[in-house]
Amino acid sequence: MRHMIFGESHGPAIGVVVEGVPAGLELKLEAVQRELNRRRPGQGPTTTARKESDLVEVLSGVFEGKTTGAPLAMVIRNSDQHSQDYEAIRYTPRPSHGDYAGFIRSQGCQDYRGGGHFSGRLTAPLVAAGAVAKQVLARHGVWVGAHISSIYGITDASLEDEESLRAVAAKSFPVLDDAKGEEMRQAILEAKNEGDSVGGAVECAVFGLPAGLGAPDFGCNVEGIFAQYLFAVPAVKGVDFGAGVAFSLMRGSEANDPFEVRDGKVVTKTNHAGGVNGGITNGMPITFEATIRPTPSIALPQESVDLRTGEETEIEIHGRHDPCIVPRAVPVIEAAAALAACQVLGI
Ligand SMILES: Cc1cc2nc3c(=O)[nH]c(=O)nc-3n(C[C@H](O)[C@H](O)[C@H](O)COP(=O)(O)O)c2cc1C
Repeated sequence: MRHMIFGESHGPAIGVVVEGVPAGLELKLEAVQRELNRRRPGQGPTTTARKESDLVEVLSGVFEGKTTGAPLAMVIRNSDQHSQDYEAIRYTPRPSHGDYAGFIRSQGCQDYRGGGHFSGRLTAPLVAAGAVAKQVLARHGVWVGAHISSIYGITDASLEDEESLRAVAAKSFPVLDDAKGEEMRQAILEAKNEGDSVGGAVECAVFGLPAGLGAPDFGCNVEGIFAQYLFAVPAVKGVDFGAGVAFSLMRGSEANDPFEVRDGKVVTKTNHAGGVNGGITNGMPITFEATIRPTPSIALPQESVDLRTGEETEIEIHGRHDPCIVPRAVPVIEAAAALAACQVLGI
């Protein structure tokens, strides 16, 4: 399966074309919509005030409720745009957003309104594609789930099993420990009240992939495949598998995952490797953490340059923004992981 996302934040619509979806899948559109609702903006004071219904419409690739194997096109109309908020920063790029890099690449022709194609809004079609991938994976006994693992240094409980992660999917603030979730919310609101933003991390796990998939080499390496999908999610600035950066503080005796036999199957007692050894799945859940940067668009004054004159200047951003991207990124990370898992399975 391959996908291509199209659209701009303030254009008429955004969408995705997914190629190579196996024919004969009874596509549950309500499940696609449910995933989109998890990511939707305008759900409380900790997200952007932009209101979007994010209703998905299938244009092709499904006939009489089943996928045909032809390209599957899904579209989501934009409705709540405030394009005038962006006129003032058309030639004065927002620090750390895609504005400057996009301006150079497109030779000044990019749709600057609301971040154009670089907007976090473009993760809605990714979630739709991921929702299709999740339905394909379910046929292979594979399930993907995620939770907020930290926001601005406040950490959620550690992930123990698949059941606890399944319970998180229904929550509007997807954490394992709701008390920690409340602390995280306060940290977001504090930053917001000061015209600032905060970042954090999403922990994700893929259950049910058999051992032996992938290869050590570039292109087929399982960690490499996942990383490629995950770094395509805007605001993801780090991805680490299993114990990840904590490996640097461990000895081999602590880091190694001892083997044992459980129900006649070779498994490991711990899963510090995150389900991958030598670029190949080892049959344990694939676990990773994606680090999400603080939202680049903040209300505080910031230094920029007027690209017309080359003069240094100060800007203030008036658009509506998420004071923290992490809560809304949870279904997005799951979607990217589901698409990566399909590739690992050779679908
Ligand atoms: C779900 C989601 C929502 C986002 N919302 C915003 C936002 O409101 N304001 C903003 O400046 N960036 C937002 N972003 C992040 C930017 O799109 C991203 O930082 C920018 O494109 C630059 O890409 P980079 O951070 O990967 O380098 C969002 C990202 C995601 C995944």
